[in-house]
Amino acid sequence: MKLLENKTALITGAARGIGRCIAQLFADEGANVIITDLRESESSVELVNELRAKGVRCDFLAADAASTERAMEVADWVAKNYGRLDVLVNNAGITRDKLILRMTADDWNAVVETNLRSVFNYTKAFASMMLKQRAGSIINISSIVGLIGNAGQANYSAAKAGIVGFTRSMTKELGSRGIRCNAIAPGFIETPMTKQLSEETRQTWVENIPLHRVGTDKDVARVALFLASDLSGYVSGQVIACDGGLML
Ligand code: NAI
Repeated sequence: MKLLENKTALITGAARGIGRCIAQLFADEGANVIITDLRESESSVELVNELRAKGVRCDFLAADAASTERAMEVADWVAKNYGRLDVLVNNAGITRDKLILRMTADDWNAVVETNLRSVFNYTKAFASMMLKQRAGSIINISSIVGLIGNAGQANYSAAKAGIVGFTRSMTKELGSRGIRCNAIAPGFIETPMTKQLSEETRQTWVENIPLHRVGTDKDVARVALFLASDLSGYVSGQVIACDGGLML
């Protein structure tokens, strides 16, 4: 039996990068997968076809994760079309890196809305369904910079730190009904998001990583698979760093 057989998962911001890889791995393990992203694209269409070819159900919904209203519509759609949600992965995220003197209120708001408000939106939207089911696993993608901070990322690190507090509160609020809530704190992961960084920055990171390599989307997806599956049935409220030991 596959690890996620008969489970349904929704992943926000999954057209590319870490979210896409989580969707692929979940489908390999038998899950039906609902993918959201800002808009339909060649990449999202290709992903849906790829996952359906694995023999699972898969649908794409265009949804700005920062919109509370749209999250409610997405939850209604999932209730009508899938009837339940076992795993919610709050993955959508952006960066707008600037030192504080240059950071505008727009830079702050865009990052906090996409990375943190989105987690509130989707947890709230799916909480009643999971409470009725008396089961569910919520996985929030934070970052090690939410735990240790980073110059030039005050907006991003504040949003990612906020996710940690939110995750622990949900653990306490929803735990008695069998709902688990955990966060993953990836370190430096090779994705389109980090491709913007210079080779010099990349080398500096690699030198400081005990495993001496950057992470891959699959490294993070495997942690998500553990948290989504019953293998982690007694794990809740945790922040699992997936960073090659960087934070030590
Ligand atoms: P990415 O930029 O490759 O992919 C992010 C996806 O989210 C894209 O498909 C994008 O269209 C979508 N997205 C952006 N804003 C959205 C919105 N408002 N609504 C719906 N979808 C939206 O990024 P990556 O690297 O895959 O990151 C995934 C998550 O992992 C993010 O939360 C990021 O902060 C986090 N993370 C990434 C790290 C890295 O090194 N790549 C390190 C630590 C955390």
